[in-house]
Amino acid sequence: KASRASRKDDHVRLASAQQTEGPRRTDFDDLEFVHHALSGTNPELVDLSVELGDWTWPTPFYVNGMTGGTETTAKINRDLAIAAAETGLPMACGSMSVALDDAEAAKGFTVIREENPDGFVMGNLGAGRSADDARRAVELLNADALQLHINPVQETAMPEGTRDFSTWLSGLEDIVAACPVPVVVKEVGFGLSRRTLTLLADIGVQYADVSGAGGTDFLRIENDRSPAADFSMLTGFGQSALACLLDAPSEWTTETTMDDGVSNRVLLASGGVRNPYDVVKALACGARAVGVAGTFLQTVLDHGPDGLVDLVRTWQTQTSALFALLGAERSTDLTGTDLLTRGRLGEFARLRGIDATALSHRTDAL
Ligand code: FNR
Repeated sequence: KASRASRKDDHVRLASAQQTEGPRRTDFDDLEFVHHALSGTNPELVDLSVELGDWTWPTPFYVNGMTGGTETTAKINRDLAIAAAETGLPMACGSMSVALDDAEAAKGFTVIREENPDGFVMGNLGAGRSADDARRAVELLNADALQLHINPVQETAMPEGTRDFSTWLSGLEDIVAACPVPVVVKEVGFGLSRRTLTLLADIGVQYADVSGAGGTDFLRIENDRSPAADFSMLTGFGQSALACLLDAPSEWTTETTMDDGVSNRVLLASGGVRNPYDVVKALACGARAVGVAGTFLQTVLDHGPDGLVDLVRTWQTQTSALFALLGAERSTDLTGTDLLTRGRLGEFARLRGIDATALSHRTDAL
């Protein structure tokens, strides 16, 4: 138990160290909009709210799953929840495994509901847990949704990690069938491929967050925690959020009807989102909302809940301004913008047979 707790604190410390290293180039820098100087609109006409199946969120971004279970991380969850309550941002917690066996650790998660009784809150568990665990996690937080993370790269790099991934898909299927609230399947910074998204659709998953590479790097975090079990040879493994979005199968990106006959699938994105321009780029590539972990974590560590409230307000204003610049009144309008895919992202598109010319001429179809 002690080692599981210290792992949570290590993750925060090492993720924060990555945040303070200064800027690095990512796939977000390889995506550009073709600028059309007379196509803008008025920010007062912009509506930032997004419809995600049965949910309406006030902004197209949310606090992604990070932490809980120790004294330090309970304080972080409290600060994040205070800011979420103040701004209306949806929020997820980190893996609740520890909370299911330990009442003291559970307080580091339930604090989120105490601080934000009416907000949209997501629980979080890893693949490999039972349907009963999923029900208990949802109950503990009175959660509106349950994030289920699939993190095989991270597990591989962890000495204490799982090595057998062969039962994950059938386990996920059981949880999706039994969970009383919708399940959001996510990676933790290595991306969900086209093939993975198809498998998820086949087992009835309605919400997926591709959580791609380029932001918080869990391979490096685990290598730093256990240098003797070095897996740094995998550096750069996985796909970025934008690559995953461009590669996503049409059942995730177009209006398709699920088995229940009413709902559409909802594709979310995260991984390396630093600012509102990154948010807008992910929306333009088909994400319906964008998760932010490392950037918001660093803000509450440095400036507390008030600092995060200020940042969220700034992001809201700037996101509206960017929508107006690009001529979008609603976030779904951004999927009609003309995109240039350069550099690494462009090469990924070429290798995967994605039609880059069509992406750069989307306004022709309007
Ligand atoms: C995470 N992330 C994460 N994800 C998850 O599903 N369960 C978890 O317990 C955690 N734990 C965790 C701890 C810390 C400190 C961070 C920063 C992140 C992963 C997170 O949700 C996200 O997928 C990645 O961090 C990529 O997004 P960013 O950080 O680049 O915005």
